[in-house]
Amino acid sequence: MNEQIANIEKAISAFHIGSSEDAEQFRLTFLSRKGQIPALFEAFKLLPGDEKRLYGKTINALKQKAENIYKEGVKSANQKQQQSVDYTRAVKDLPFGSRHPLSVIRDEIIDIFARIGFDVSYGPEIEDDWHNFSALNFPEEHPARDMQDTFFVEKDPDFALRTHTSSVQVRVMENTAPPIRTISPGRVYRNEAISARSHCFFHQIEGLYIDKDVSFADLKQTILYFAEQFFGKSKIRMRPSYFPFTEPSAEVDVYWGLNNEVDYRLTKGTGWLEIMGCGMVDPAVLQASNIDPEVYSGFAFGMGVERIALNRYQIPDIRMLSENDMRFLKQF
Ligand code: DAH
Repeated sequence: MNEQIANIEKAISAFHIGSSEDAEQFRLTFLSRKGQIPALFEAFKLLPGDEKRLYGKTINALKQKAENIYKEGVKSANQKQQQSVDYTRAVKDLPFGSRHPLSVIRDEIIDIFARIGFDVSYGPEIEDDWHNFSALNFPEEHPARDMQDTFFVEKDPDFALRTHTSSVQVRVMENTAPPIRTISPGRVYRNEAISARSHCFFHQIEGLYIDKDVSFADLKQTILYFAEQFFGKSKIRMRPSYFPFTEPSAEVDVYWGLNNEVDYRLTKGTGWLEIMGCGMVDPAVLQASNIDPEVYSGFAFGMGVERIALNRYQIPDIRMLSENDMRFLKQF
């Protein structure tokens, strides 16, 4: 035992720790579970009682000494390393991330409506028939419910991937007493052939305003405000249209102008660009969500985010927006 202790003592004292690698080597040799000091304690355990008394103090002191040398060694190795760092060296360029064009547009639109009191609401992408269709006044035989348009959940055909964010309107109306002003952005799904201009999933932004005495004039003024803020255009027109959940319904075009070749292409030579659908919320829709149509009225609108992105950034193919090709995304 005496000899074993002396050998370890000698080895510890002779060990020079000059770097963190040395410190680690020291720890492995002497202190780690398979190191020499734990081995010494194993041997100590086998000694008869009176010898234990003899050696106990010595080997505890040896262990203490090894631990101190190790701690000091780590400290000085760290200090040495820090001194060798050149703090004046130029920083290496790191690649910056950038926001996805769809997120950029979504957030701009949310900001514009936030300034006139709209909040933001979300709903599930797997939606039941009630919120996606029935509560929005879709008749039983409406073609949008068809297998051609809608991805149904195989195990339970009462559920489908939502075909529009109008479903969120219903959820908000069910859970909030008017006045309601909300913007609902999100991804929607349609069983359509994929091409440069259409995809089986895309993003919409829905708007809903419910209060006493909301009129078509309010709708028109709100959309005009949006067109001015978002597109920088101050002329819009509304064309009569049809949606099951609004009456009357309209399609909104913004006057884009015909100042260059791109404008001609974008507006097919008309100068007008279609930007959204909208209308006065159908009384049957209010009723379905337990809002009294005799007391309250409201308007709603919905627009596609991809379409805006394709136009704004002159992106030739909608698929580029979901492929996540870094060469494409880096440009934004
Ligand atoms: N939900 C419609 C669609 O998917 C868009 C839309 C049109 C939403 C008119 C509305 C609205 O709220 O009033 O194409």
